[in-house]
Amino acid sequence: MPSWLKNAVFYEIYPQSYYDTNGDGIGDINGITEKLDYIKFLGFNALWLNPCYVSPFMDAGYDVEDYCKVAPRYGTNEALYNLFEQAHNRGMHVILDLVPGHTSDQHPWFKQSRLPTKNEMTDRYTWTDCVWNRPPEYSWVAGMSDRDGCFLINFFNSQPALNYGFNEITHPEWQMSYTDPRAQATFDAMLEVMRFWLDRGCDGFRVDMADSLVKNDEEKTATASLWRRARKMLDESYPEAMLISEWCNAPRSVNNAGFHCDFLLNHQYKMTHYGFRYWENGVNKSYFCKTAHVSAHNMLSKYLDELYQIQGNGYISVISGNHDTERISYMLDESELRLAYTMLLTLPGVPFFYYGDEIGMRYIPQQSKEGGFHRTGSRTPMQWDNSLPNLGFSTADASKLYLQVDDQPNAPTAVQCQANPDSLLNLVKKLNAIRSENEDLQADGQMKILVCDDNGVLAYLRGEHTAVVFNPTDKAQTTTLNVQQELFKIGSYTVKDGITTLESQTAVIFKI
Ligand code: BGC
Repeated sequence: MPSWLKNAVFYEIYPQSYYDTNGDGIGDINGITEKLDYIKFLGFNALWLNPCYVSPFMDAGYDVEDYCKVAPRYGTNEALYNLFEQAHNRGMHVILDLVPGHTSDQHPWFKQSRLPTKNEMTDRYTWTDCVWNRPPEYSWVAGMSDRDGCFLINFFNSQPALNYGFNEITHPEWQMSYTDPRAQATFDAMLEVMRFWLDRGCDGFRVDMADSLVKNDEEKTATASLWRRARKMLDESYPEAMLISEWCNAPRSVNNAGFHCDFLLNHQYKMTHYGFRYWENGVNKSYFCKTAHVSAHNMLSKYLDELYQIQGNGYISVISGNHDTERISYMLDESELRLAYTMLLTLPGVPFFYYGDEIGMRYIPQQSKEGGFHRTGSRTPMQWDNSLPNLGFSTADASKLYLQVDDQPNAPTAVQCQANPDSLLNLVKKLNAIRSENEDLQADGQMKILVCDDNGVLAYLRGEHTAVVFNPTDKAQTTTLNVQQELFKIGSYTVKDGITTLESQTAVIFKI
């Protein structure tokens, strides 16, 4: 286990939208490097960058054309190596996005694979044996080249699935086993990509659709066997490098596949009732919504169940949101966000904050860009200050921007929030400081539920001596828990005769 993970708090950066240093209207790697001091000031000590590789950007870069080259619009490989170095100088870590399940249809591997004549890339992707053969249980693209067959896709039509073989063979005429050397060679190629970046200072990977590799793999045992190979390589050659999966099943990801960490996403592609139900129970229904008055049980049940199953083997990551979800501020108002962030930063595991959530950036529904569709509204440029034309994001003319900045007169900015001691940003900074000074609150400390009442009061013990209690509702609530030795509070409370009254929208971190 990489030693830095136990106290890691991540900040996710969508490079398109963070900071533009060359005035072309799109964020760049040098922009991230320039903002490292801001990120460190907030108390984040690790970064996850969304894909920044050469790509036709049909899916915002999740359609990779060259795994080992930074997209010119973001800069150069040297700029990225410099970012690694500057981050390390500040005691921070940087992980990249690895997209192993599919490439762009513009990747040279695919361009070769689609040729009608047999060549060394013929089996790098999954093709049927004839263009008319399209088994309905899979998603196919047909007729896009002269190769007589259809190719399997993983996400959009422009993202052909790499061939890691099948666990159960149901169509022997075109499927191969995942143990076939041709299928294993695809994973070898992915290990090469990992080595390329790790050798140049990268600290690990967030692995996109990590569970999607081997097909017809219901229990994911074959897919897990591949990731075990990656973990072995890391343990042997890069013991301080981390792997976090987009899997949403921590027992499979951590216990079986060997990931250090798995994301428990609040929802995936509009599939609700999944993962950590922070706020997606619906408008006005989230645990944190002051008028909801619901027990925290539903929100926490899957998280706790998985947490107990993986303890000692790895971590679960809970997120404020990400580039695929509506922003958390879409569902919760600022006073509710304060409580949600207090929980996010006091749970076990490795928390992830999405850029801009520290200032309460808005979700702005708008026309799709680069395959974003409903996700585009969460990908707008970071709001740095009140300067024109683009709130400090870029000096380019607004018409040239990747996406427009929030045009509301009250759009929050980082500078404004830094100056206001009561801002969300300063709350996040304070919570990060408390977490980093208090081992109980970090990744490893145990979590035990002390109170989980129907009136909305929730309290949990972290480690041996630190507890956190919440009343997110708009009414005072009581509990027999004795709140004392306060480390941090939002709202107010009183303790009398062994009864604690928590006023509306209160959270307290305290020692017991
Ligand atoms: C990423 C998405 C991407 C998809 C396909 C995901 O889960 O987070 O942004 O579109 O994988 O690569």
